[in-house]
Amino acid sequence: MNVSGNYETDRNLRTRQSIWAYGAGAPFFRRVLDLVSVPETAPVVDVGCGNGNYLAELRRRGHRGPLLGLDLSPGMAATAAAASGAPTAVADAQFLPVGTATAGLTLAPHMLYHVPDIPLAVAELRRITAPGGLAVITVNTPWHTHEVDALLAKVTTDLLGHPVTMAWDGQRFRSDRAGALLPTVFDDVAKHDLGWVARVTSAAAMRGYVESIPATGLAVPDECRAEVLAEFERRVAARIEATGSFPVTSGAVAYVCG
Ligand SMILES: C[S@@+](CC[C@H](N)C(=O)[O-])C[C@H]1O[C@@H](n2cnc3c(N)ncnc32)[C@H](O)[C@@H]1O
Repeated sequence: MNVSGNYETDRNLRTRQSIWAYGAGAPFFRRVLDLVSVPETAPVVDVGCGNGNYLAELRRRGHRGPLLGLDLSPGMAATAAAASGAPTAVADAQFLPVGTATAGLTLAPHMLYHVPDIPLAVAELRRITAPGGLAVITVNTPWHTHEVDALLAKVTTDLLGHPVTMAWDGQRFRSDRAGALLPTVFDDVAKHDLGWVARVTSAAAMRGYVESIPATGLAVPDECRAEVLAEFERRVAARIEATGSFPVTSGAVAYVCG
């Protein structure tokens, strides 16, 4: 993945994270960390740490062991360090600069789908996880954000004569593929469905969500893009006006692997 377009800074990630804040309940990263109990001095490595939510939460929980955030994007690594106070470094999940069997907890949340060689990255997660330690991997189900795709398909059919939906990295490695691959690498794999429905009350936030996907991920002619986005936002606003919110399904799944 080329991080320069989408992950140079955490702006696009924050935009996408913002719609999930409309869901009831604790933020996703808290619910993921609630799944594992890790000795409070265990070393933790967060691979593809993004803007550092997991590292910051571990600190908030009083984790006293060494924390390390790794990300392919220098901007993300810097943001995560500032947000969490944990050391971070630029690194590729396919070639982790971490010793074998050293991490008590290895995290790889919502990132494997960006990696060119996913089995190689999963083997790396396994390699760095200590015996008795855990690796926690999160991905999405195939029905993640299906309401967004359905509305985009309607809008583009009406405006362009054919349906266009989002095509993005997240679709490269979803729960169907993860469920098949992970048990071939780890001895024990426990799947946790953590999906929920966010009831979004801002049409602008929904438009921002679609805009945060790289332009190549919404294959409409450049000259029609603004019109498609404006119509998408208009129909979301109409739905919010009529029913109070626009529902968006998160199909997030966590795998706790040992
Ligand atoms: C969707 S964000 C998830 C961030 C964070 N894990 C979270 O769940 O909030 C994906 C992150 O993976 C990083 N990334 C993409 N390819 C990577 C690779 N090959 N190695 C390490 N990090 C990568 C991106 O820069 C981005 O920060």
